[in-house]
Parts: sequence; C-alpha cells; structure tokens
Amino acid sequence: MTRPAILITRKVFPDVVEHLRQHFDVDHNDADGVLSPAQLIERLQGKVGALTTGSERIDGAVAGACPQLRIVANIAVGYNNFDVPALSAAGVLATNTPDVLTETTADFGFALLMATARRLTESEHFLRAGQWNRWALDMFAGAEVHGSTLGILGMGRIGQAIARRGAHGFGMKVIYHNRSRLDAATEAECKARYVDKATLLREADHLILVLPYSAESHHAIGAAEIAQMKPTATLTNIARGGIVDDAALAAALKERRIAAAGLDVFEGEPKVHPDLLTVPNVVLTPHIASATIQTRRAMAMLAADNVIDYLTTGQPRTPLNADIIGKGARP
Ligand code: GLV
Repeated sequence: MTRPAILITRKVFPDVVEHLRQHFDVDHNDADGVLSPAQLIERLQGKVGALTTGSERIDGAVAGACPQLRIVANIAVGYNNFDVPALSAAGVLATNTPDVLTETTADFGFALLMATARRLTESEHFLRAGQWNRWALDMFAGAEVHGSTLGILGMGRIGQAIARRGAHGFGMKVIYHNRSRLDAATEAECKARYVDKATLLREADHLILVLPYSAESHHAIGAAEIAQMKPTATLTNIARGGIVDDAALAAALKERRIAAAGLDVFEGEPKVHPDLLTVPNVVLTPHIASATIQTRRAMAMLAADNVIDYLTTGQPRTPLNADIIGKGARP
C-alpha cells in the first residue's frame, strides 16, 4: 500500500525524519540549500504535507500548483513567509511553533542586549587584533543594564519572558508597547508598564523589538523613530528583518545618534546592509535567537507532530488557521 508523501524542505535532525517516516514517505532536502520557488513546487508534487522554514515563501500560487498539499508546518514561530489568508482560501492548513522557543529566544534577546550595551564584540575584536597594549579607565565603557529602563516593542510570549528577566533578574524598570495591552495580572507579574510608542522610544535606555513582521510593522523603527530615542540608548532586534530600516539605523549608528545596536535579523537576510558591517557599535548575529540543540529539535518535532496529528486525526497542535478545519480544508 502506498503511504502519503511529505516534504521536509531543509535539513532537520535525523530523529525528526525517523518520526515522520513512521507515518509517511519522506522526501528530505538534506542537501540543505534553499529550494527555489520552482524547485519547491516540483518537490511538492504529490505531497500532502510539508515542513518548511522561513526561507520558503508559501502562498496561493504554491497552494494552487500543489493541489494535494493539505498542510504546511513552519519550523518557526514567525510565519511571515506564509500567506495565511491565501492558504485558508485554498484549504491548506498552516501551523507554526509557539511556546517551545520562548525562553531560549528570550535568553538570547537578553544576551544580545547585554553584549550591545557592554560592547562585547567590539572589545573582543580589539583584543584579537592585538591592540590591547594599554588599559584606560574609560576603555570600552558601555551603558548600564541593571536598574536602567527596558523598553519592549511587542509584548507576546517572548516579550513577556524578556520583561521577567529584566525586571526580576536585573532590577530594570520595564515599559512596553503592544497592539493590545496585557491584562493587569500579566503586567504585574512582568512588572511592566504599558506606554504609547512615543513614550517607549523616548524613555527606553534599551529598546528591544519582539513584534511579528507584517505590512504594518514594516520599518516600525526608521529614522524618525530613532530620532526620538536617547543618544545613549541601545536598540536590539530579535524579531524580523524589515521591522527596522537598516540603512537608517546604520546612518544613525555612524553618527552616534544612538549608542549601539544588536541585530539578529536583517532586511533581505542572509544579505546584510553593507554599512552595518563597517560601523563598530553594532553586534551582529545570523538569526540564531532560538538556536540551541534542544529548542531547534523541539521546534522541528512540533512541526512534525502538527503534520502527523493533522493528517492522522484532523487535529493539529498549533494551527494558524484552525477555522478551515471542517469548513473548506482540503480533504
Ligand atoms: C525565528 O525567527 C522564528 O520565527 O522562530
């Protein structure tokens, strides 16, 4: 008897592939290069499900060209690579991987903020370059973290986990802005105060971005917003490229209109704006906020379980468009 077939678009952990093989014929792109849109459509022919990453755009055209496709399971909490309304219209279920990466991503956000405030990579480059032949009182003096004001733009699960670290671990005053205000109990637990965006920009000593990318959040931080920040402030982006106008940020860093930035995500990544590579006061990492073995495995397993559960029981674990189940979802 032939079994249903699925595609894994990028290299994943062998136990995740084995888990899926218990239910499906698995086509696995273990060469790990990003499939072009045409290659993706070709590899998806005859497939009922796919595990995808943020590198693959999955929209109405893909759904239309792959009529057997019933579910796409992103190995990421962000899903701006999916056109969810188009997938819903085509009857394709979409899932993401919330919760399993929250604490790990918050750890990294805090690490990047600390590295940025305390000039970690800049000072390491100095040392590695053999320039440490003297010591000075103000050498690589950075910005205070403990007791300062932490501003969080986007207060979902990861934003809240960062707030807890700041408030409870570092005695920071936490302010946040979000599309909707948190309930009073969550605000109290995070010790976070809701403010409007202008106040957030004006008062934060360290501003961290944790909001999803969408047309509305495109360039949420550009030249005008940076101009409202303190000249001593830092900006950390662990959300998505495109939320910050990277060209405007590079210019501001160069002119020291803010003190420093920490960036894990970039507009058009893996390309990085060339001006960001030449300014010293920026810490740059290649989109690794959720990258621990345990967490990346948990993300891939959750994506696999979404595919298995949906295709065997009709009940995925973390759906983005559950409303189509039983009402327009492809049989
Ligand atoms: C990573 O960026 C994710 O969205 O999980």
